[in-house]
Amino acid sequence: MFRSHTCGELRDSHINKEVTLAGWVQKTRDKGFMLWIDLRDRYGITQLIFDEERSSQTLMEQAKTLGREFVIQVKGTVIERVSKNPNLPTGDIEILVSELTILNKSKTPPFTIEDKTDGGEELRMQYRYLDIRRNPVKNNLIFRAKVTQEVRNYLSNEGFIEVETPYLIKSTPEGARDFVVPSRMNKGQFYALPQSPQTFKQLLMVGGMDKYFQIVKCFRDEDLRADRQPEFTQIDCEMAFVEQEDILNVFEGLIGYLLKEVNGVTVDKFPRMTYEETMQRYGNDKPDIRFGMEFGELNAVAQHKDFNVFNQAELVVGIAVPNGNEYSRKDIDKLIDWVKRPQVGALGMVYVRCNDDGSYKSSVDKFYDQDDLAKWAEVTGAKKGDLICVLSGDATKVRTQLSALRMELAERLGLRNPKEFAPLWITDFPLLEWDEDTKRYHAMHHPFTSPKPGQLELLKTNPGEVKANAYDLVLNGNEIGGGSIRIHDKKTQALMFDYLGFTKEEANAQFGFLMNAFEYGAPPHGGIAFGLDRLVAILGGQETIRDFIAFPKNNSGRDVMIDAPAPIDDAQLKELSLKLNLKL
Ligand code: AMO
Repeated sequence: MFRSHTCGELRDSHINKEVTLAGWVQKTRDKGFMLWIDLRDRYGITQLIFDEERSSQTLMEQAKTLGREFVIQVKGTVIERVSKNPNLPTGDIEILVSELTILNKSKTPPFTIEDKTDGGEELRMQYRYLDIRRNPVKNNLIFRAKVTQEVRNYLSNEGFIEVETPYLIKSTPEGARDFVVPSRMNKGQFYALPQSPQTFKQLLMVGGMDKYFQIVKCFRDEDLRADRQPEFTQIDCEMAFVEQEDILNVFEGLIGYLLKEVNGVTVDKFPRMTYEETMQRYGNDKPDIRFGMEFGELNAVAQHKDFNVFNQAELVVGIAVPNGNEYSRKDIDKLIDWVKRPQVGALGMVYVRCNDDGSYKSSVDKFYDQDDLAKWAEVTGAKKGDLICVLSGDATKVRTQLSALRMELAERLGLRNPKEFAPLWITDFPLLEWDEDTKRYHAMHHPFTSPKPGQLELLKTNPGEVKANAYDLVLNGNEIGGGSIRIHDKKTQALMFDYLGFTKEEANAQFGFLMNAFEYGAPPHGGIAFGLDRLVAILGGQETIRDFIAFPKNNSGRDVMIDAPAPIDDAQLKELSLKLNLKL
């Protein structure tokens, strides 16, 4: 037997027992005549003791050679500790070692294997296997496994069948770029790694699987952020014979179950909001509704005075910052600089101090009197002691800018409590989105999403107005899932491709297989996919998904541990019939 117990297991009930443990040397305390070692494994830490009185000379000497992260096996007796450590589950006992075997030596690790390490991000990524030994990372991975397990439990109980779909496929246009894989046997041709198994899960519905799910890797060659990785995992789901309401109910059930099982939080009914309403109230289609600071549209009360900036604006909109009147002039100037940063892009910010005596003091007092400002306060919901921040300009841009300010202020004010969970369904998304670069409409979700019933005709006359049968689930200001009811007949799908600017030939070449399948009795169907990494991170009270992925990529899409991506040699290139043009 390699070990009789783990390092997290022994208690005072084990006193006098002979045990064998194995693990890593976390720390050594050497008093000369006495020596303690913290032995660590996945399950915890157990203290080992060696002393001149009770241990042999050879054993003492051997123990003194141990360095940090050496892997050892020890045999010994569980004894009561003289000074107990109430912070450690094994803190009542220690092991008086009788036999020590060094299983493997270790170089001094490049950073400390402690909860608070001295290692920087890049170094920790380079030695990720050491980073995984640290509690925060280890616990995140264990947490992820638990969430994944619960997802499988729930969906399996609901009658969903887990089916694997291929990774070597043809590209599906879903907004991001594809990663492509050259084919040796089919020269000059490429597979694409799936951005999602979208078309396959629809074909599974045509195949009669009825309820499908898959915990699946997806690949997107897009710019990275804290909540984006080039390869990430989806909980991908599809159901046949359903309407939007059925999908929302089933998956509200799933997320509600996870919140209960994993976080012990009960959320009775998830609120819903249309896309239009969320854009008006929060300037964002993934609003964090754990706090207020809702938008107040001020056109009616701020325009038609002498302030030209506002008169010329499409939208004048403000938020009330709770207790913001405490900000000094300098604080406010800094806030104005913050909204003017290129990342936010506002041209300026107007502010109103709501004084405790009920009076107002604004940066535009020249144009507005106390009655005007009182109306602003009413519209934005500002109370005495608050600060009203107002932006103006192009409606879409200004909403995005004010939303960024709202989130920043909430962060600074500590209003984003990671222990509180506020899910929100967003429905009635526009079907199409105008793209300024290509000067045409793109599917906002993807081209397989069906328009709302009866809106197909509107596509011809007013494409921008058409609403989709699509929905997102937002949790604490993060989009954790999205899906739609699909088109399931060839005619509508062909029409959709036509509106999206595909020629008949292009549509057939790319999606002929799907449209053909629709001719063989495709059932009405719909589904959703959740970002597992994001979901796990948020349930774990964080927003950076990297910390919940065993081997993540850095912000340039590199794996710095294995040093990928990397060039391939000439022979490999030749075999794949590839020629590099590095002049690019
Ligand atoms: P969508 O593109 O909205 O839908 O993706 C679903 C969810 O996946 C997560 N996600 C990501 N997570 C980490 N890194 C990324 N780069 C990344 N991109 C997306 C998000 C998102 O909500 N096939 C459709 C689903 C459907 O229609 O059923 C799809 O992929 O949490």
